[in-house]
Amino acid sequence: MSGMNRPSLLLHLLFFVLPNLSELAAGQDQYVYSGFTGADLTLDGVATITPDGLLELTNGTFRLKGHAFHPTPFQFGNTPNGSFAVSYLFAIYCVQSHICGHGLAFLVASSNNFSDTMPTQYLGLINDHNNGYAINRFFAVELDTNWNDEFKDIDNNHLGIDINSLDSINSSSAGYYDHNGNFQNMTLASYQVMQVWVEYDGDSKQIDVSLAPIHMAKPIKPLLSTTYNLSTVLTDMVYVGFSASTGSFISRQYVLGWSFGINMPAPAIDITKLPKLPSEGPKPRSKVLEIVLPIVTAAFVLVVGITVILLVRRRLRYAELRENWETEFEPHRFSYKDLFHATQGFKSKNLLGVGGFGRVYKGVLPRSKLEIAVKRISHDSKQGMKEFVAEVVSIGHLQHRNLVQLHGYCRRKAELLLVYEYMSNGSLDKYLYDQDNKPTLTWAQRYKIIKGIASGLLYLHQEWEKVVLHRDIKPSNVLLDDELNGRLGDFGLARLYDHETGPQTTHVVGTIGYLAPELARTNKATPLSDVFSFGMFALEVTCGRKPVEGNQLMLVEWVLDHWHRGFLTDAVDTKLQGAYDVDEACLALKLGLLSSHPLINLRPNTRQIMQYLNGDMAPPDLNPTHMSFNFISLMQNKVSIQRP
Ligand SMILES: Nc1ncnc2c1ncn2[C@@H]1O[C@H](COP(=O)(O)OP(=O)(O)OP(=O)(O)O)[C@@H](O)[C@H]1O
Ligand SMILES: *[C@@H]1O[C@H](CO)[C@@H](O)[C@H](O)[C@H]1NC(C)=O
Ligand SMILES: *[C@@H]1O[C@H](CO)[C@@H](O)[C@H](O)[C@H]1NC(C)=O
Ligand SMILES: *[C@@H]1O[C@H](CO)[C@@H](O)[C@H](O)[C@H]1NC(C)=O
Ligand SMILES: *[C@@H]1O[C@H](CO)[C@@H](O)[C@H](O)[C@H]1NC(C)=O
Ligand SMILES: *[C@@H]1O[C@H](CO)[C@@H](O)[C@H](O)[C@H]1NC(C)=O
Ligand SMILES: *[C@@H]1O[C@H](CO)[C@@H](O)[C@H](O)[C@H]1NC(C)=O
Ligand SMILES: [Mg+2]
Repeated sequence: MSGMNRPSLLLHLLFFVLPNLSELAAGQDQYVYSGFTGADLTLDGVATITPDGLLELTNGTFRLKGHAFHPTPFQFGNTPNGSFAVSYLFAIYCVQSHICGHGLAFLVASSNNFSDTMPTQYLGLINDHNNGYAINRFFAVELDTNWNDEFKDIDNNHLGIDINSLDSINSSSAGYYDHNGNFQNMTLASYQVMQVWVEYDGDSKQIDVSLAPIHMAKPIKPLLSTTYNLSTVLTDMVYVGFSASTGSFISRQYVLGWSFGINMPAPAIDITKLPKLPSEGPKPRSKVLEIVLPIVTAAFVLVVGITVILLVRRRLRYAELRENWETEFEPHRFSYKDLFHATQGFKSKNLLGVGGFGRVYKGVLPRSKLEIAVKRISHDSKQGMKEFVAEVVSIGHLQHRNLVQLHGYCRRKAELLLVYEYMSNGSLDKYLYDQDNKPTLTWAQRYKIIKGIASGLLYLHQEWEKVVLHRDIKPSNVLLDDELNGRLGDFGLARLYDHETGPQTTHVVGTIGYLAPELARTNKATPLSDVFSFGMFALEVTCGRKPVEGNQLMLVEWVLDHWHRGFLTDAVDTKLQGAYDVDEACLALKLGLLSSHPLINLRPNTRQIMQYLNGDMAPPDLNPTHMSFNFISLMQNKVSIQRP
């Protein structure tokens, strides 16, 4: 039994397989491309196979066409009833999202030479003068993404069956009939992968075309069908392939996979092996953008340039000098920028006055709204700066109702800025000599100021943790607050110039008329040299006269002279028109004389001064003769006194 089986199997093979083989030789063929890597297609125009294995028919450039053909032709005409079946997967990326061009077509043709065709609406199938010519000899299924009146297109998203002509024999909007027979529309240029089936039955001359999304089986009801004897169109040998074009509207048109069978079914395409589509590339610039972009770029560069220049200028404008040792003083430091803005750029409108050291400006700090007076001191030397800043900062800790608060400092190249509390009523000298049309101060006000300054001086000399010398007591350094309280300002400043001139020089810093005579010899400021200046100050406030007139120290002599003649109170400022407390005025004058006594030992200390003024202690019983002892001769001991 088993022996009999073998020859029958062999016979079976001979009868059934061999005829098939011979039939294949007579015009059967099939192939499949699941991706095009390594495929030997005949390409022209812009058609290429991308490194990823995509067949790219057009690349998104205007007015171009591309063709791709299977390398060898197929025998079609010699088979009795030539049939074929094809399926392919494609995707169309529309570069300008609103309008797309132009389309892609599957093609069975007698020639693969389409060089005489045109892009745009001609789809690379015909040119502008051969539409419908029998000599064209092609059958095509167009996927048309652009509506064209010339070829009676139904819309801008349709499939059509074309024979020698772009006037489709049958066409339909893109879509498919589902298993219920309902039409489901699709958008060709959506960059979605879709599959097309084209079948031609040589017996019935029936042509069926179907479209469906990827992963979907071929719909039962075709989208398009028609009957046409393709043997009247095509010749013996046919080429199969694709054609695509772009025009003023562009797209990138891809075929991902393709299978074909002539007188055989089309093999299945392995969808898992399909190449990946490139990501949606950047949209091309519109004409508007091409003009606007350079302008915007130029403007941007300009703005950046100007900003840089402004920033550099700003840096220079607000540049500060900052050294390592200053970090510990940082909390007392002001930024130059803040001071600049506070004083409105050091506007002359904000100038409060000009002194021996520099200009003083009024300002309001931007954030805290604190009113300040900024003193700009030009200062080239770095020598002693550290000690001075340390002193400024320590002075900043001094707080007394008769002192002008020093808030802090700032340093720039060749410049030092000191920031003080602002005193609304300015300095006392302006009141004494009626400079700015200020009202004359009453006696009570003057006495309050003298007492206040004595109190401030006592704090500096004895009440604070270390002795601070003022070194420059005089009416212009006495500032008046809202309630006309006298407040000492500018203390310690003289120190800066002390340091600068160095120990070997004998220059004394202060103001002529207020300098104690012993300073000329010792060059060493003491609390009692401050007391001398205070005495001069008390006399000046009481008499309304400057201590120096011409080059002579006159005030002390003048007061003594009145005293000698027994009319001490005649020395009191006549502007008061006699409205003063005689006892207080006499006390002020005597205390002034005593404090500015040329003999250091005779001067009271600050605490004693305070006690006399408060009436806690009677001043020593003075007489004019005792006071003038050796006075004149000492005063005439001229010294070299210099201002910085
Ligand atoms: N804190 C302040 N508040 C208000 N005005 C001030 C303040 N400090 C100074 N001024 C004003 O600025 C003017 C100039 O002050 P500055 O101290 O520079 O000069 P000065 O006192 O006349 O002389 P010196 O240089 O000997 O101190 C003063 O006369 C005063 O009117
Ligand atoms: C498309 O191809 C043409 C012709 O080869 C070329 O000039 C053009 O630069 C290409 N465009 C892109 C976007 O690659
Ligand atoms: C293609 O056809 C054109 C004329 O239509 C001809 O000039 C050209 O030589 C042909 N090319 C090839 C490769 O046969
Ligand atoms: C496609 O279908 C959607 C709804 O399914 C419909 O809103 C739309 O109008 C249809 N488009 C065309 C061109 O038929
Ligand atoms: C060719 O088609 C004709 C008519 O449709 C049919 O009678 C014939 O059998 C077909 N021949 C072959 C070989 O299929
Ligand atoms: C076009 O195709 C449709 C769908 O297959 C069909 O119903 C219709 O009759 C066809 N029209 C022509 C003119 O062939
Ligand atoms: C189809 O066309 C060919 C060539 O013209 C012809 O020989 C054949 O008879 C035609 N078939 C039918 C069914 O008309
Ligand atoms: Mg001053």
